[in-house]
Amino acid sequence: MQEDLSTTSLFKKRMSYLGNGDQYFYKEPLHITKGEDVWLFDKEGKKYLDVYNNVAHVGHCNPVVVDAMVNQAAKLNTNTRYLHEHIVALAEAIIESMPEGLNVCYFCCSGSEANDLAFQIARNNTGNKGCLVTENAYHGNTTAVFQMSPEDCTANQRESWIGTIPGPQEYLEDEVRCIQKTKDQVTKLKSHNHSIAAFIADNIFSSEGIYLPREGYLQTLYALVKDLGGLTIADEVQSGFGRTGDFMWGFEHSGVVPDIVTLGKPMGNGHPISAVITTREIADGFNRDYGYFNTFGGNPVSCAAGLAVIRYIKDNNLVKHAKTVGNYFQKELVRTIGTNDLVKDIRGSGLFIGIEMKDDTITSSTVEQLMNNGVLVGQTGPNNNVMKLRPPMTFQKEHADFVVQQLEKIQLNF
Ligand SMILES: Cc1ncc(COP(=O)(O)O)c(C=O)c1O
Repeated sequence: MQEDLSTTSLFKKRMSYLGNGDQYFYKEPLHITKGEDVWLFDKEGKKYLDVYNNVAHVGHCNPVVVDAMVNQAAKLNTNTRYLHEHIVALAEAIIESMPEGLNVCYFCCSGSEANDLAFQIARNNTGNKGCLVTENAYHGNTTAVFQMSPEDCTANQRESWIGTIPGPQEYLEDEVRCIQKTKDQVTKLKSHNHSIAAFIADNIFSSEGIYLPREGYLQTLYALVKDLGGLTIADEVQSGFGRTGDFMWGFEHSGVVPDIVTLGKPMGNGHPISAVITTREIADGFNRDYGYFNTFGGNPVSCAAGLAVIRYIKDNNLVKHAKTVGNYFQKELVRTIGTNDLVKDIRGSGLFIGIEMKDDTITSSTVEQLMNNGVLVGQTGPNNNVMKLRPPMTFQKEHADFVVQQLEKIQLNF
């Protein structure tokens, strides 16, 4: 039997046993013991509106997803060395949602693994080594993908095959400067004998401060990268599965078609599953030179979860819902706190909203106070001054109203 520890002793034990023991949210870490739709409950039964966790995409412990997983777990769990209906059905459902030509899937277990594989495929296909990423991007934690994540990988840790280019905000401010900086990075890579294998971008530019790119940004970069013989990778780990409204995938807002797409986080509603999707031609080239096997990637239980998530999104029209509720939420935020001196901008798309504040201290204090008032949000951006609102897709207008009310209360204390 597991000991029933107090939150304090649980925290102390965690700090002593875990390699990443200090990575928790809030000054006093929350001890969450139950989740239900958009709500989380702590050990004392206090209820929090979850406006942060995109992984529980169709709601915490969604009974449809739980049933699908439980039923499959009770029947069989193996790996992709055997035939199984679920993996084929999931690949088919994903491919149906992609632009024509993106018709081959690989399954993995995390966003980092998916991006790592995508980059390996790009290197194989192009024969090049270099990679372009935006200046504060985050794409994961493997040895290669850490390098592709300047948010964590500082300039002095960065290897010579990485070039960092401006995000969509700078393109908006000064397109010419932005393109010149990108070309300078390509020249820098060339001086180290690296040509471009890939450009990878998270299509809601979350760690850049949450920007849906305006017309032109991705188109221009995609054309430039193609000219240089590289491939384009759309990292849909955050922007995928309808989160940004209107479209299932974030890149669709820009009217571009990537060579490779990677999926993760929301894909299994909390169960670890991710995927890489590319063209038959690119996949065949890779398959000729490399074997790919992933013990847990694409197992029948994970695929049951993935299928249930996609079906739930479709059955409940959640892409449209994200747009309707997201628009309402943004409008209400603009109406109530938009003119506050401490708020610099409110932006985003669908159910992915950023509130840029005056500085990181005010943002941290707001995030902490909201938690005390029963609302969980996050914090991001190069200056850590953007409040990140990214709730489960089952979030309703009344939940948006609750957040706005709590923000209005807190405003008085600024
Ligand atoms: C855009 C993006 N890509 C990739 C990853 C890595 O995913 P994972 O943590 O599942 O490895 C993350 C995680 O935060 C992410 O936000």
